[in-house]
Amino acid sequence: MKILKTIQEMSVFSKKARRDGKSIGLVPTMGFLHEGHLSLVKSALLSVDLTVVSIFINPAQFGKNEDLDKYPRNMDKDLALLKEAGVDVVFAPEASEMYPGGFITFVTPQGGLEDVLEGEIRPGHFRGVATVVAKLFNITEPDKAFFGQKDAQQCLIIKKLAHDLNFSAEIVILPTVRETDGLAKSSRNSYLDAKERKAAPAIFKALQMAQHMIELGENDPSVVTAEIRKMIGRTKLLDLEYAVITDPETLHPVDSIGGRALALIAAKVGTTRLIDNIMIER
Ligand code: PAJ
Repeated sequence: MKILKTIQEMSVFSKKARRDGKSIGLVPTMGFLHEGHLSLVKSALLSVDLTVVSIFINPAQFGKNEDLDKYPRNMDKDLALLKEAGVDVVFAPEASEMYPGGFITFVTPQGGLEDVLEGEIRPGHFRGVATVVAKLFNITEPDKAFFGQKDAQQCLIIKKLAHDLNFSAEIVILPTVRETDGLAKSSRNSYLDAKERKAAPAIFKALQMAQHMIELGENDPSVVTAEIRKMIGRTKLLDLEYAVITDPETLHPVDSIGGRALALIAAKVGTTRLIDNIMIER
């Protein structure tokens, strides 16, 4: 497994791979890898010739008061996991390599997807995500790029980015990997203490409850979200930020539920923000 730290090295590798007729799969990550990340890696390994995993804690997507400085990291463990999985290349640049002095050009999604939900609570977040993903696409020239449904809004924005800026990469979205009690795997789960960890699965339980209500015929989203609010409200240590039922493509809240809908929750567990979502089909 090659570990590349510079854009130059990564770019030379990708260009040679393309000349040799090999397909490239990119799995962008911020490291501190768990089985959610590894499910994307496994899918890449099965469907392309060369799998590139990027590990880069992207400062541009963190707000001023967010957790950039304490974001968990364990490069040695990540490298061991990726080597064992059979990954071809890890691209792990420094922040100064990706954003050298004088960097002024950003990719800004505009049109509504970026300023609701996560974008409303984390202004500028998706500008940072879109910028780094566009840079990673240019540097690695992937045929396919793999993302997790856990970050549903990010998936929609990246699909639009690829389409609007004419990246040829196919965007592959894979299901959320969960702990046995339903909690979506997340690098940020490592912030939770024992009591918070016990409380956190209520987020997914609330989403499942919403799914059941809708499957049983409830079509008024305000009735469903009121129940979610009650359930999260009853759970100590949990503080709901939003619970919405939206159109899965536009993320606009729906007036009435029919066909496919996406239920999304963001909640604080102690001081840790967690997000989760579930696709509901009827
Ligand atoms: P990060 O949070 O490290 O996640 C990297 C990828 O793993 C994302 O596509 C995310 O949706 C996916 N992922 C995380 N938890 C998952 C789970 N439980 N099941 C399935 N997939 C999961 O998302 C980012 O990094 C960054 O925003 C990034 C895209 C790398 C840009 O900086």
